[in-house]
Amino acid sequence: MNKNFWKRKKVLVTGGASFIGSHLVDLLVCKNVDVRVVDDLSSGTLENIRHHVTNKNIEFIKGDLRETKVAKKSVKGVDLIFHLAGDHGGRGYVDLHQAGPAGNLLLDGNLFWQAHKSGVEKIVFASSGCVYPNYLQIDPTKKLYLSEQQVGPPYDADNMYGWAKLMAEMTLKAYTKEFGMKSASCRFFVVYGPRAKEDHAVVAMIARAFIKQNPFIVWGNGRQVRNWTYVGDIVSGFVLAAEKIDDGTSVNLGTEERLSVLETAQTILSLTGHQAEIELHPEMPTGPANRVANNSLAKELLGWEPKVKFADGVKETIEWYFASKDTSKIEKMLNGMLIERKHLARVARAKKKTNGVMDKGRFYEIG
Ligand SMILES: NC(=O)c1ccc[n+]([C@@H]2O[C@H](COP(=O)([O-])OP(=O)(O)OC[C@H]3O[C@@H](n4cnc5c(N)ncnc54)[C@H](O)[C@@H]3O)[C@@H](O)[C@H]2O)c1
Repeated sequence: MNKNFWKRKKVLVTGGASFIGSHLVDLLVCKNVDVRVVDDLSSGTLENIRHHVTNKNIEFIKGDLRETKVAKKSVKGVDLIFHLAGDHGGRGYVDLHQAGPAGNLLLDGNLFWQAHKSGVEKIVFASSGCVYPNYLQIDPTKKLYLSEQQVGPPYDADNMYGWAKLMAEMTLKAYTKEFGMKSASCRFFVVYGPRAKEDHAVVAMIARAFIKQNPFIVWGNGRQVRNWTYVGDIVSGFVLAAEKIDDGTSVNLGTEERLSVLETAQTILSLTGHQAEIELHPEMPTGPANRVANNSLAKELLGWEPKVKFADGVKETIEWYFASKDTSKIEKMLNGMLIERKHLARVARAKKKTNGVMDKGRFYEIG
């Protein structure tokens, strides 16, 4: 990290209580960056950043960024925003839920507008491999590496979630060009690591091994190809994009290590020592058959390359999972976790507890 760049900068991390957001907050706090987090805790958890909140290392706003008053308070006095907040889930969620991710159009638009009005210098956006046209990703036997310029007419993003990511990228490019607000978009490809949730394939498979599922269920025909990317690599690339890209450019953050879902399952079974029969479920959501990033633009613009090989990153993730989870809870909840965010009930519950704005040191709640 370039220390001079971050000196005297006030940084907002939206969705900072999430899996990826909390790793980013760890990195920024460790480099003494002045950080504010806003999150409605609909899928992120306070546990992920509790140590920073308790130590008052960061300011924390609990609120829904679709609400103007929350966005306004969050961006006040901020120089740079890492924008990760969004209605998002794994494959089961992206395929089966459209209304939730449609709220991201409102969330992103509201945040960007308030940021522009308040004079924020730059927004760095957590975009996704889901912006790539589906029609390119049909043949799993092709050695395909998706490169940034392949997102263009005819657009064919992945469900409402992918369309909203694409619209946010386009909005930021327009704001950069017409309003002079700097921006960058990073297209993350399936991210895994400690604190990741069961709704994404790698941790879903670790969870199945953890509860000793037999037969061991794998969604799809197992031939889908992915480039699982370690969270530490993602946040280091994200920070580099903040330092080095100003003009709205979108860049892939993903490894070029190609693995089929079946190979991934076999690695996880072998590392966990779980002996089980694999049972394929082709009727379940699988997403595109072939999605792997070309990361040469990130190398060129950011000097970034993923450092963690899947075999090492997954080992660490398994160790974290096995050390921190409770078998009976996972057994009970796993099926729901794979396709739901279960957020609506939690937000409604949180709202009931809150009246107006509460100020407790550096913890604010806006209801
Ligand atoms: N995990 C991946 O593989 C992956 C891949 C590509 C992109 N991304 C993007 O990275 C970001 C972080 O994802 P993640 O996997 O860490 O977990 P996540 O989906 O849980 O992160 C979203 C965060 O936003 C918060 N949030 C949701 N709606 C909100 C609202 N209305 N107001 C305020 N906060 C709200 C959630 O509580 C959560 O902390 C997301 O934008 C996601 O789309 C993730």
